[in-house]
Amino acid sequence: MPHPVLSGPSADAVPVFTVTPDDWESHAEPLGAEAVAFARAQGFAGKAGTLAMVPGRGGRLAGVLFGCEPADAPGFDPFAHGRLPGLLPEGVYRLSGGVHDAGLATLAFLLGSYRFDRYRKPGGKAVRLVVPDGVDGEKAGRIAEAVAFGRDLINTPANDLGPQEIEDAARALASDFGAACEVTAGDALLAANFPMIHAVGRASTRPPRLIDLRWGDPGAPKITLIGKGVAFDTGGLDIKPASAMRLMKKDMGGAATALSAARMIMGAGLPVRLRVLVPAVENAISGSAFRPGDVLPSRKGLTVEIENTDAEGRLILADALALADEEEPDLVLQFATLTGAARVALGPDLPPLFTEDDALAADLMRLGLAVNDPVWRLPLWKPYARMLDSKIADIDHSGTGGFAGSITAALFLKRFVEKAKAYAHFDVYGWVPSARPGRPEGGEPQVARLVLALLEERFGRKAPL
Ligand code: BES
Ligand code: MN
Ligand code: ZN
Repeated sequence: MPHPVLSGPSADAVPVFTVTPDDWESHAEPLGAEAVAFARAQGFAGKAGTLAMVPGRGGRLAGVLFGCEPADAPGFDPFAHGRLPGLLPEGVYRLSGGVHDAGLATLAFLLGSYRFDRYRKPGGKAVRLVVPDGVDGEKAGRIAEAVAFGRDLINTPANDLGPQEIEDAARALASDFGAACEVTAGDALLAANFPMIHAVGRASTRPPRLIDLRWGDPGAPKITLIGKGVAFDTGGLDIKPASAMRLMKKDMGGAATALSAARMIMGAGLPVRLRVLVPAVENAISGSAFRPGDVLPSRKGLTVEIENTDAEGRLILADALALADEEEPDLVLQFATLTGAARVALGPDLPPLFTEDDALAADLMRLGLAVNDPVWRLPLWKPYARMLDSKIADIDHSGTGGFAGSITAALFLKRFVEKAKAYAHFDVYGWVPSARPGRPEGGEPQVARLVLALLEERFGRKAPL
């Protein structure tokens, strides 16, 4: 099923010329001297992000000039064409020349067409794009749908998306692709030895759970994705101030990334044994809430002293990591909206990546730039492990100094992984604070497309996009 925004070749499609301030007049020439004059009369000068519409016979649109930065300019955005669905009137368009990367431009167009309309009337303007030559429209469509799935999960507020609804989404995904899905919920988490997932989630009226999805040939390389699924993070007894709590419906952004990537991987039919683990909880406040100073047992057997109940993500992830590690997987990739410190370090658009595997880090940095889903490596700086020393337990979960918060969180998680052949943790923001081309304001399953690119390169049949 092709993506509804994409179209096959169409004689009526209006050409969109991608132009710069230096070359726009030569691009417009085929439209005629009057077209150039008309664009100039509108004040068009090829400036990035601006449009000029050129009339043809009978008042029809003959073409559109779309200003973009040249690929070597500092302001160049590989997703610039993500602006088009918002700017263009309803119709069918085709990209005609001047495009640096037609695959990314197509994807940006699809990603820029997204709208979260669960709670309002659909926006309903049909701006469609003819799949450019050499671009795999099926693949672009699949990726865009998987991203929209992740965005919807993050954008859905916590009153409509609790641990149960995260489970429902995982089960629906599993059934779409013939995957198995097992869930351990409520007090069964204690019997099954997931004490920290239980402790973090038990204060909520909506029971915590561990979702375990499996797909693919059991003999294929074992790839496990893990995503933090905190449906809402009040901070627990160490309650967050209002400004910090406002966006905490997005604290399941890591789970959204894992599920979105899983949809891409299964949709592409990659020859891997995929497993997705999502600890899904609500970090709520009630008489049964876990407390600062508590010492929790963990699946791995380490005792964990609770410094601050707002550092809940690493606790639920630690139990999921310990489970993942037990089958000695080839690769564990984990995603979490884990720390405010990651945002201070690198801002909302560039998630820190932590891994001890230099080749994996290099591949991820390179592919991140190539598919415009970037990450930046930060160190698992061992000397800072001292910040996690506890005086009464095996480990303290967050440290007291307030320094290097994203690194100490990553060091904590690393303690629960021993047997996996490779492990990487991504501290994602999961949210676009203000709209940019192809990236509407709101939820964003960051690094899901990067995961697909990595697994395709390492294990897959390659298709151009
Ligand atoms: N979910 C938050 C982290 C977060 C906050 C991510 C804002 C993105 C935006 C996480 O559970 C948290 O509260 N972390 C604390 C840890 C601290 C108590 C050690 C933080 O970063 O302040
Ligand atoms: Mn928290
Ligand atoms: Zn959190």
